[in-house]
Amino acid sequence: MGQDAFMAPLGSRIGVLQCKIYLLLLGTCSGLTVTVPSHTIHGVKGQPLYLPVNYGFQTLASDIQIIWLFERLHTMPKYLLGSVNKSVVPDLEYQHKFTMMPPNASLLINPLQFTDEGNYIVKVNIQGNGTLSASQKIQVTVDDPVTKPVVQIQPSSGAVEYVGNMTLTCLVEGGTRLVYQWLKNGKPVHSSSSYFFSPQNETLHITPVTKGDIGNYSCLVKNPVSELESDIITPTIYYGPYGLQVNSDKGLKVGEVFTVDLGEAILFDCSADSYPPNTYSWIQRAANTTHVIQHGPRLEVASEKVAQKTVDYVCCAYNNVTGRQDETHFTVIITSIGLEKLAQKGKSLSPLASITGVSLFLIISMSLLFLWKKYQPFNVLKQKLEGRPETEYRRAQAFSGHEDALDDFGIYEFVGFPDPSGVPRMPSSPVLASDDVLGQELHNTIYEVIQHIPAQQQDRTE
Ligand SMILES: *[C@@H]1O[C@H](CO)[C@@H](O)[C@H](O)[C@H]1NC(C)=O
Ligand SMILES: *[C@@H]1O[C@H](CO)[C@@H](O)[C@H](O)[C@H]1NC(C)=O
Ligand SMILES: *[C@@H]1O[C@H](CO)[C@@H](O)[C@H](O)[C@H]1NC(C)=O
Ligand SMILES: *[C@@H]1O[C@H](CO)[C@@H](O)[C@H](O)[C@H]1NC(C)=O
Ligand SMILES: *[C@@H]1O[C@H](CO)[C@@H](O)[C@H](O)[C@H]1NC(C)=O
Ligand SMILES: *[C@@H]1O[C@H](CO)[C@@H](O)[C@H](O)[C@H]1NC(C)=O
Ligand SMILES: *[C@@H]1O[C@H](CO)[C@@H](O)[C@H](O)[C@H]1NC(C)=O
Ligand SMILES: *[C@@H]1O[C@H](CO)[C@@H](O)[C@H](O)[C@H]1NC(C)=O
Repeated sequence: MGQDAFMAPLGSRIGVLQCKIYLLLLGTCSGLTVTVPSHTIHGVKGQPLYLPVNYGFQTLASDIQIIWLFERLHTMPKYLLGSVNKSVVPDLEYQHKFTMMPPNASLLINPLQFTDEGNYIVKVNIQGNGTLSASQKIQVTVDDPVTKPVVQIQPSSGAVEYVGNMTLTCLVEGGTRLVYQWLKNGKPVHSSSSYFFSPQNETLHITPVTKGDIGNYSCLVKNPVSELESDIITPTIYYGPYGLQVNSDKGLKVGEVFTVDLGEAILFDCSADSYPPNTYSWIQRAANTTHVIQHGPRLEVASEKVAQKTVDYVCCAYNNVTGRQDETHFTVIITSIGLEKLAQKGKSLSPLASITGVSLFLIISMSLLFLWKKYQPFNVLKQKLEGRPETEYRRAQAFSGHEDALDDFGIYEFVGFPDPSGVPRMPSSPVLASDDVLGQELHNTIYEVIQHIPAQQQDRTE
């Protein structure tokens, strides 16, 4: 570029040609172009800043003049320095601060101060066959880099869910033109019904806090020359208990009923989500009285030592900070297994006894159905059967007590569909006796009676 000043006549002729093309296209012909890579440059205070400028022209030049001016808002432009060919003439006031090495038009500012912020204007004049001139403007900002932010949390001891509020404040010691941003688990936090920001976003107010506000918070602070993120802070939020449930190491669990074999010791584990951890207590309920039998998340029941066959327990979880508690009721049924025990089923009601009870119920139902069917057209039932998806039918079959009864008209099957909503949830009312268990089971089961044509029945039983 600088060498262009001493360009050969051939180059000059090409330049004139280009100039004519510019004339046609743009209606102007300067033959001199001044360009800057960036019209805005962000500088760091105290460091050197380089303002790059390129220029080129297509004419024979005798003198190349470069002039730098500085213009701050609402002030007169100031002359910084200028050059003709290779000799620089600085403003003596700024001679140690600004440097230029002509024919390179770029300017070096060293060191950069806040007062150096403003617009820098570079003007290039070419003296040849006439005078060409062009200029550019560069806006310079000066900033102090950001120092690492620190997040303070109020109250530092933590807040109770739905009761307390929390304020996170981002503190930064150094840096200019700071822009604050809050991150939760690395993603930007947006204002919402419970998140409020101060006008500059340096504080984040959460009111009220909820369990969902638990997370890794950090503050990201940026300015044009730097950005830094604080360490992660995790607010303490007290919540719960939620999702209380009782589980056992062995035994059969159906809903809130645990069935244990006689002679076995069974360990119950009560758990609920809360912060701080719950305190657990176990309560045994007799006819009219309840008494706490143990504290802690575990309860061991040795089935031999239990006087009754059916015992009701309550696990109570209490969060001593939120002041909330939850409890779940469950029943332990102690059974004896083996066929000989099943034979004398009269006394205690085991699961096998329950099945027997269901079977009896089925037989009675079938008898009733038989009577009813005598007065009903055959087709109604058949349509009902055909409307049922095959898979549902098979599943139901797996759950059902299966009974066949031959009579004049065909084979009947009694099929139970367990109600899925009835099985896993803890009901609010406790189950007190085994008879109620059976009752419950019946309530949660939809029974259907299906008639089969004997030929089909044979296929399936094989
Ligand atoms: C600048 O350089 C050109 C070509 O070398 C020369 O003709 C001209 O006189 C010089 N101008 C000054 C002011 O030194
Ligand atoms: C001007 O000088 C700087 C170094 O001071 C160099 O990086 C830059 O490329 C030069 N520009 C031109 C157009 O020669
Ligand atoms: C100088 O400019 C005039 C008119 O613009 C032109 O006629 C003449 O040829 C030019 N001379 C050179 C050496 O470019
Ligand atoms: C939380 O903020 C709400 C509204 O800003 C206020 O009514 C409530 O008293 C505050 N709670 C606490 C514990 O400071
Ligand atoms: C929070 O940070 C901790 C460690 O710094 C990490 O183990 C945990 O997975 C983070 N949680 C989330 C939700 O990102
Ligand atoms: C504050 O943060 C919110 C959400 O991140 C953003 O929409 C808003 O522009 C920010 N305000 C300022 C002044 O930075
Ligand atoms: C709350 O319960 C925890 C155990 O979960 C215990 O360490 C703490 O001392 C209790 N606090 C109060 C105030 O009772
Ligand atoms: C239960 O308590 C009530 C009154 O508190 C009493 O009338 C009743 O007899 C008690 N029943 C049993 C089985 O103890």
